[in-house]
Amino acid sequence: MKEIQLHDKKFIPYIDKEKIKCAVKKLAEEIKNDAQNQPVVFIVVLKGSFVFAADLAKHYTGEATFEFYRLKSYEGTGSTGEVKILVDIDPKFIKDKQVIVLEDIVDTGNTLEKIIEELQAKQPASLKIATLFFKPEAYTKDYPIDFVGMKIPNKFIVGYGLDYDELGRNLPEIYRLKETRMIDVVLFGPPGAGKGTQAQILKDKLGLTYIATGDLFRHHIKNKTDLGIKAQSYIDKGDLVPDEITIGMIKEIIADPEARGFIFDGFPRTVKQAEVLDQLMADKGLIIDALLSINVPEERLIKRLLERGKTSGRSDDNEETIKHRLNQYHTKTEPVKDYYKAQGKFYEIDGVGSIDEVNQRLLDIIGNIKLREK
Ligand code: IMP
Ligand code: MG
Repeated sequence: MKEIQLHDKKFIPYIDKEKIKCAVKKLAEEIKNDAQNQPVVFIVVLKGSFVFAADLAKHYTGEATFEFYRLKSYEGTGSTGEVKILVDIDPKFIKDKQVIVLEDIVDTGNTLEKIIEELQAKQPASLKIATLFFKPEAYTKDYPIDFVGMKIPNKFIVGYGLDYDELGRNLPEIYRLKETRMIDVVLFGPPGAGKGTQAQILKDKLGLTYIATGDLFRHHIKNKTDLGIKAQSYIDKGDLVPDEITIGMIKEIIADPEARGFIFDGFPRTVKQAEVLDQLMADKGLIIDALLSINVPEERLIKRLLERGKTSGRSDDNEETIKHRLNQYHTKTEPVKDYYKAQGKFYEIDGVGSIDEVNQRLLDIIGNIKLREK
């Protein structure tokens, strides 16, 4: 996968040449069948459609003529809503003809609406629309689109005629805008500190990917993946799952190019794992921005966990096991704090208060980290 830069933005490969070629051929055949041996006038909407129209022309076997409209509607990566005609078409090429508009992409449909309005006024015998790409989620009009090459999600794309501020039109395949990265954090704290609850809220508010190792194990075991089957054998014996299995699962998730950032919960649990995580992230060109450590006094933790034990059905939420888990946390897991302190990435949050209060404290810290980066 090769990332490219156009102006200030990064783009990643999205639709390859072969898929585009199939879509263009399919459109040429559909239009030909629909035209029933009658001549058609193709209206090429410039600039974006020049590559698409040229390729479609090569596959179109019926009688056809070509006219060119030049419109402008986009500034940067957002629709301006206003559509201007820069080069018009003589009505004599449209009147009483079977007209087919060739659009590179239909997004909101503003451009299309303007084209239809203009062309109808020139009195064609029929008017149909063909677009190579269509974004149904962005489309705000009712006008039906007769021929669609490919439906795509509401993402900004470039290549094959499509541009970002005039660049990228000559790319032979489609790239899409790389989402800007939010933040990558480790949520830290003793059992009962509220990590899971807080992570869930941060995930929803910031669009991050939540990685809880416990959930990962359950997911892999349920789906009987190779890693899941290996993990199961340790869990069945009451042993801890070895690092390399956990790491294998994490590796898979952080490979996701769509992710805006990760929240780790329950990992790293040891300094060794913290080192491994740094390496895994570095391999992807990423970095952990912060360890957010939620502080709750011990008496409160015990109270909370006992309370949870009444309803959670978790066998480990009883007084004796709780004390053992807290002890394990202090001896094995707490040293992870020093690892991040040494990197200047350690942040403490008061975990006493309502869920919303604690969440606001976390968001404030995340906001400050992002500001500091700029
Ligand atoms: P609409 O008027 O919102 O449907 O947008 C149509 C025009 O905006 C297209 O003809 C393109 O020029 C441009 N456009 C829409 N989406 C994209 C995109 O993802 N990449 C590049 N240009 C786009
Ligand atoms: Mg266009």
